[in-house]
Amino acid sequence: MTGRSEHGTPLLRQVLSQIKGPDPRLNEVVSALVTHLHAFVAEARPTEREWRAGLDFLIETGQMCTAERNEFVLLSDMLGLTTAVDDVNHIGPAGMTPSSVEGPFHSPAPARELGAWISSGPERERAVPTVVHGRVLDCDGTPLPGAVVDLWQANDTGLYDTQDDTQDPGNLRGLFTADDQGRYWFRTVRPSSYPVPTDGTGGRLLTAIGRHPMRPAHLHYRVTAPGYRPLTTHVFLAGDPYLGSDAAFAVKDELICHPVARDAGSEEWRMDGPHEEIDFDLKLVPLDWTEEKA
Ligand SMILES: [Fe+2]
Repeated sequence: MTGRSEHGTPLLRQVLSQIKGPDPRLNEVVSALVTHLHAFVAEARPTEREWRAGLDFLIETGQMCTAERNEFVLLSDMLGLTTAVDDVNHIGPAGMTPSSVEGPFHSPAPARELGAWISSGPERERAVPTVVHGRVLDCDGTPLPGAVVDLWQANDTGLYDTQDDTQDPGNLRGLFTADDQGRYWFRTVRPSSYPVPTDGTGGRLLTAIGRHPMRPAHLHYRVTAPGYRPLTTHVFLAGDPYLGSDAAFAVKDELICHPVARDAGSEEWRMDGPHEEIDFDLKLVPLDWTEEKA
């Protein structure tokens, strides 16, 4: 054992001994955090100047936060921590659709009929028309009629309605109720990949560590059905160049779909010309599922 660790261990023990608030879980979490931070200092051995620069970085991050923008959430996303927290909280049976991070762009969506167009902005004229359909199911394949699918996506330039004056509020969003066979469907345009905000501390860190800010093209889903865990997830489009390096580390293999190009219209899907078709089923986990039952 080195002199450094002999010094550090009693110090850590002393700090931990002072953590004795009324909430045992809070004590547990703070103790684990402090333990890992001391281990970080022992390993990285920051100079005092580096430590102060780190604190200044966090101060600046906090100062950037507003009601509309949370730079800490961005840091959490781009360091894989949001996904790590998601992973430890959403274990389930084989066949379940994995969850994935919500991201910052959810807002209340207009209720729409099955089959509705959710695109009414200028993107409708220039982007790839796309029909998206699938079923909401239990993990054993039982359909879940009446399940609610809350959907939101960026347009073909990578912008959400909340970021873009050319889109009306609610554009590229929809709240759908699955039919008696658990089916949902809607018509839209193909979304584009887009960068996370780069004008803050998060962007500065990405540049400093040699990473790009791009997220691969995706659709966001939040699916609910009585008796089942709500599922918040993404569906990613196969072939996107950023699938292997998502700035938010949200990609999971089971969430990648393969859009099929159709060179003619479709009566079934009420598409009057060439389009793409996405077929994606969502499998929910019963509320009473436990690891012990599996
Ligand atoms: Fe997104």
